[in-house]
Amino acid sequence: MAPPVILIGFMGSGKSAVGKRLAAELGCRFVDADDEVERAMGISIVDAFSRHGEEYFRRHEEETVHHLIDAAESRGDGTVISLGGGAVTIGSVRRRLAGMPLVILLDQDAGTCFERSRGGGRPLARDREDFERLYRERERLYREAAGHVLDTRGKSAAAVAAAAAEIVRREGESA
Ligand code: S3P
Repeated sequence: MAPPVILIGFMGSGKSAVGKRLAAELGCRFVDADDEVERAMGISIVDAFSRHGEEYFRRHEEETVHHLIDAAESRGDGTVISLGGGAVTIGSVRRRLAGMPLVILLDQDAGTCFERSRGGGRPLARDREDFERLYRERERLYREAAGHVLDTRGKSAAAVAAAAAEIVRREGESA
């Protein structure tokens, strides 16, 4: 039984790009939690924030993340799941991650995260100052939730995926 691999980190830290490559490298399934939350809501994240507010999105995010982890754990197939950047702000998600062996933080500086996130469909990546404030507010949450931290500064998604695969293989050997 292979445990799920959970990628966490701020918006623009590369979770989706790395997650896809990591899953390909390990020969595992990849799930992007944001896509699944959108599917569950039936509308885009941008629309959910503007029509119903952030709380509405977080309720769906909470339910979806638990559901995705439940499903991956029962398959036992080492599914790679990239979580939305704000998933660690949800208490029940933090408690869930605390019991998991492969929670990997993709660490990236706020400036790079903003350059990658701005102008896209991210409601919390419009204003640089607000973005950087959120980054500082959440830093501790990511570090507390992570069992492994990868410094991704200056590294390609392929290099980060290779380092993450190394962690997964190492953990698998010691399990
Ligand atoms: C959010 C991050 C986004 C998405 C939503 C809110 C956040 O995911 O879930 O826009 O609060 O940090 P990514 O980290 O995949 O961009």
